[in-house]
Amino acid sequence: MDVVRTVADLRRHLPQGASSSCALVPTMGNLHEGHLDLVRVAKAHGGPVAVSIFVNPLQFAPSEDFDRYPRTFEADLAKLGALGVDVVYAPTVAVMYPEPQTVRVVPPPALTDILEGAVRPGFFTGVATVVAKLFLMVRPAVAVFGKKDYQQLRVVEAMVRQLSMGVEIVGVETARADDGLALSSRNGYLTEAERAEAPALRRSLATAAASLRTGESIGGVEADAAGALAGRGWQVDYVAVRRRSDLAAPQPGEALVIVAAAKLGATRLIDNIEV
Ligand code: PAF
Repeated sequence: MDVVRTVADLRRHLPQGASSSCALVPTMGNLHEGHLDLVRVAKAHGGPVAVSIFVNPLQFAPSEDFDRYPRTFEADLAKLGALGVDVVYAPTVAVMYPEPQTVRVVPPPALTDILEGAVRPGFFTGVATVVAKLFLMVRPAVAVFGKKDYQQLRVVEAMVRQLSMGVEIVGVETARADDGLALSSRNGYLTEAERAEAPALRRSLATAAASLRTGESIGGVEADAAGALAGRGWQVDYVAVRRRSDLAAPQPGEALVIVAAAKLGATRLIDNIEV
């Protein structure tokens, strides 16, 4: 496995021919089983697999956890090596942003002014900009993203579609702990008591999905789930029933997803369930 830090090295290790069949898994490191699932899907694609590790300052607000975001590079490399990854691309901030990144990719406001975007202004512009740069640097045929970050997946799909990037975007089911908690690097911030409480987020989504299926109204389902979490001490940002394709308010008969974000102590968790 080659570990490269510059675009020139990347080009040497993923020459044009290889690159055109390459599958990319973009990550911010601190890899867990969920990331490794993405790598397995990328491997199944058959071409060379590149994994990027880059904690992207552009997608963190000043009040967020950029400085304390867990960085576990050596352990990450061991996991990726064991899975047979071909190239790890780990640029420094200076390589990714050699000058102030004043050119940015602004995804559709209808998709980014809502839900995560409403709570974290600028987040999706930061994500879209770095993902676009990674695509230009690696030039993958395929890129693999987790469905835990459901809105991020939709933002990347819209970007690729509208900018004709020609990268196939593959979404992978969320990996979960045995008690149902979605795997996330931020789970490491939870105290023991919070970790015991955290699966309640998934349970509330499962209850909400069951209620929807039995005909309860969308408004009722959202209010019940948010109320149940708040009653357990969570600070709820949103529980929302949306249509899967673009996270807009659903019309009757459309495929649904329930998305939720809530804080447990100082840690903000997100999850979703397709209905
Ligand atoms: O989901 C993530 O880890 C990040 O948002 C991504 C896609 C690697 C962009 O920095």
